[in-house]
Amino acid sequence: MNSPKPAPFAYGQIDERPEEDPGVDSSAPLEEGDRDTPVLLLEDLVVRFKSMEGIPITAVDRVSLRINRRETVGLVGETGCGKSTLARAALKLVPFQEGHVTLLGHDLAGLRNTELRSLRRRCQMIFQDPRGSLNPRMTVGRIIGEPLRVHGIGERREQAEAVREMMDLVGLPDELYARRPVQLSGGQQQRVGIARALITRPALVICDEPVSALDVSIRAQILNLLADLRDSLDVSFLFIAHDLAVVRHLSDRVAVMYLGRIVEEGPVGEIFAQPRHPYSQGLVAAILRADGFARQRLGQVRRLAAGDLPSLLNPPEGCRYQSRCPYALDDPCRKTPPPDFVDSSSGVSRLVACHRWEEIASDSLDSAVLGADGTEPDISIYAPPQGDPKDSVEPENRAGE
Ligand SMILES: Nc1ncnc2c1ncn2[C@@H]1O[C@H](COP(=O)(O)OP(=O)(O)OP(=O)(O)O)[C@@H](O)[C@H]1O
Ligand code: SF4
Ligand SMILES: [Mg+2]
Repeated sequence: MNSPKPAPFAYGQIDERPEEDPGVDSSAPLEEGDRDTPVLLLEDLVVRFKSMEGIPITAVDRVSLRINRRETVGLVGETGCGKSTLARAALKLVPFQEGHVTLLGHDLAGLRNTELRSLRRRCQMIFQDPRGSLNPRMTVGRIIGEPLRVHGIGERREQAEAVREMMDLVGLPDELYARRPVQLSGGQQQRVGIARALITRPALVICDEPVSALDVSIRAQILNLLADLRDSLDVSFLFIAHDLAVVRHLSDRVAVMYLGRIVEEGPVGEIFAQPRHPYSQGLVAAILRADGFARQRLGQVRRLAAGDLPSLLNPPEGCRYQSRCPYALDDPCRKTPPPDFVDSSSGVSRLVACHRWEEIASDSLDSAVLGADGTEPDISIYAPPQGDPKDSVEPENRAGE
């Protein structure tokens, strides 16, 4: 009798094909440089696809990004802007056409397959759809331990011990060891995904919208767990989300992506206190408390959202944000793509890709465009809202759902 076919893997899953014999990765671990070597460095990365009609799409367009050791970088942007593609290209799970990716000090372009495999042991992903990313025919213990087997780490008994330790770390009760994904709640399934990602003690974990498929109550628990792990483990995170509010809890720095490009990047506190790109301003405004000035901002956001939505299939000339931007000028905005302006005047580096960022940052233009009634814009409205969801979860509720 034929054995059943392995379940289809979710979009984006690393192809470790556990039910087929994965073999053992016998490659020696690569040197990883010193503490100052970035975990991930993207330089002018370009990823192109072809649409069904054969039209080229530049999903990632000259993106540069650096993630240091023990640093968490949030990547936000609306659907289809290229976040997942960037993440997958960073691990060479999709090919890139231009630019450089340096993982743990190694330029991916120069690596042999065995070396790439060895590096991937130290770089893991957590996916949006926890259920779809877990093999339904495997038990929890086997799913979590699979990367150890694939990479030939430890003996069988040591692997089982490591799995139980990891289950404990992510708040999964031991009795779930022999269960299958379908017997778990959504939150427990995502904890299994997190445990599987962490079991090889990676240096970098890419979380691709790890909470967006979960119920609101469970989201806070998973965010709490990721925050605890970030604080206690020697690991860097690239944390992808639609929602700036979600990345704020976890990130040291934030990169805002729009139609394949990073339009603003900087320390999380500064981006929240004073977003410079009009798109980032809209994202921040969307999570403001509904006080007076915030309502004006929210009105503005609605107006912005009503603009024409451009597409990666046909990006506009000049600045890609022009059709939604209230500050857009014919010249230069509709003629010339804005370069990356890097401002280090406050002692930390901030990047913004907007021709008019200095004017937009000034009160006069801000008031004129937003129609503020002569009062100074109150930057305190950008402070984190009261009732942070992270604080609403009792510690004893974190473990199981
Ligand atoms: N394998 C592929 N072949 C063709 N086009 C692709 C492929 N993967 C992604 N794309 C296109 O690249 C663009 C960026 O997609 P991507 O999945 O990276 O966006 P995203 O920001 O992660 O969106 P979401 O928030 O919805 O997950 C989209 O237009 C998408 O249709
Ligand atoms: S470059 Fe012009 S259109 Fe683009 S975000 Fe800045 S002001 Fe708006
Ligand atoms: Mg995505």
